[in-house]
Amino acid sequence: MMKRFFKWVLRVFLGIATLILLLILYIQLTYKRKFDALPTGIKASTDSAVIARGEYLVMGPAHCWACHTPGAHENLQEAPSGGMSGGLEIKLPFGTLYAPNITNDAATGIGTYTDEMLARAIRFNVKHDRTALVPFMTYNGMSDEDLTAVISYLRSTKPVVHEVPQHDLNVLGKGVMRFLMKSYEHATPPPAALRPDTSAEYGKYLAINVANCHGCHTNRDKSSGQFIGTPFAGGYEMPTKSGTFTSANLTPHPATGVLAKWSAGDFVQRFRAGAAYPESPMPWKAFQEMTDNDLKALYYFLRSIEPAEQRVTAFRPKLAEGEKE
Ligand code: HEC
Ligand code: HEC
Repeated sequence: MMKRFFKWVLRVFLGIATLILLLILYIQLTYKRKFDALPTGIKASTDSAVIARGEYLVMGPAHCWACHTPGAHENLQEAPSGGMSGGLEIKLPFGTLYAPNITNDAATGIGTYTDEMLARAIRFNVKHDRTALVPFMTYNGMSDEDLTAVISYLRSTKPVVHEVPQHDLNVLGKGVMRFLMKSYEHATPPPAALRPDTSAEYGKYLAINVANCHGCHTNRDKSSGQFIGTPFAGGYEMPTKSGTFTSANLTPHPATGVLAKWSAGDFVQRFRAGAAYPESPMPWKAFQEMTDNDLKALYYFLRSIEPAEQRVTAFRPKLAEGEKE
């Protein structure tokens, strides 16, 4: 009787172990899923005005260098040097990712990628090799005109030889790639171009599709990264070496919104002043480059959204050993 029972348990156990091994093997063989994307038709231009617009976006509101310039992430509040040759290490429970070299070098950068490959990476999260990009970038809704400018600028940058390691994914990460990652689907197609005036509409475009104010100033679930808070009401926690930063409430809530009492001029001044905390994860340095026009558009947009009550403490230092809260 006992013997038969153990035999049965052993069989079930072996059965489950075999299934797990088969699943791992399956993931291992198929995790580099390929995706297709609609053609964007985007082509780099050599027009100096287009390149200048691209440089403004990349160095300013879109802050591409914050992740793609080596070392920038350790000091976001200083002007970057050395070009966007990549290397930011992003450590996640499912592996380590690296921001690639996006200078025009043929061997280690984007030199051999077509304009279409770059455009579909940014717009559809479909990487040059057609696997899915892990969605760290939030420019899927960038207009054709701005995406053209960004790519034209990338093409004009000095090639920097810098080999960035391949992503190092564990089985969990490969499982995520196999079953969860996919190309981006737009609810509405990105616009061809927008008039860069000071309207709330243009501000909304900047806040969501260019400068990622939305991504940081909306609360997220810590493990999945899914948005769980009221848009722009802040409260998303970002731990650093010295403590925890929490994004501010940008809605015009009279008691808890940071900009409820600011005029457009105050808002512009706040950005010109730069970071109050040198270790802030917000790329203040990049945003300091923004024109008064774009800052005003952001302000008018933020003033136009529904006030949401949420009190936030911008920074809580790590407690010293033994100290109590
Ligand atoms: C928050 C960090 C971050 C910012 C900001 C950022 N990137 Fe990236 N970028 C990454 C990471 C990480 C990857 C690699 C993701 C992957 O391979 O799954 C990547 C990948 C890319 C790729 C794909 C290259 C390929 O292999 O196909 C391009 C192109 C790119 N970035 C351009 C840009 C541009 C242009 C900007 C600014 C408009 C920008 N990035 C801003 C983190 C960032
Ligand atoms: C990478 C994340 C990140 C991004 C992107 C980001 N922020 Fe922030 N922001 C924060 C954090 C964290 C704080 C709190 C720490 C601080 O004040 O620097 C903050 C604080 C602020 C404050 C309060 C400053 C004060 O003096 O109290 C304002 C205003 C603000 N952000 C506006 C914006 C706007 C507008 C954008 C888009 C252009 C933006 N942020 C993009 C993370 C971010």
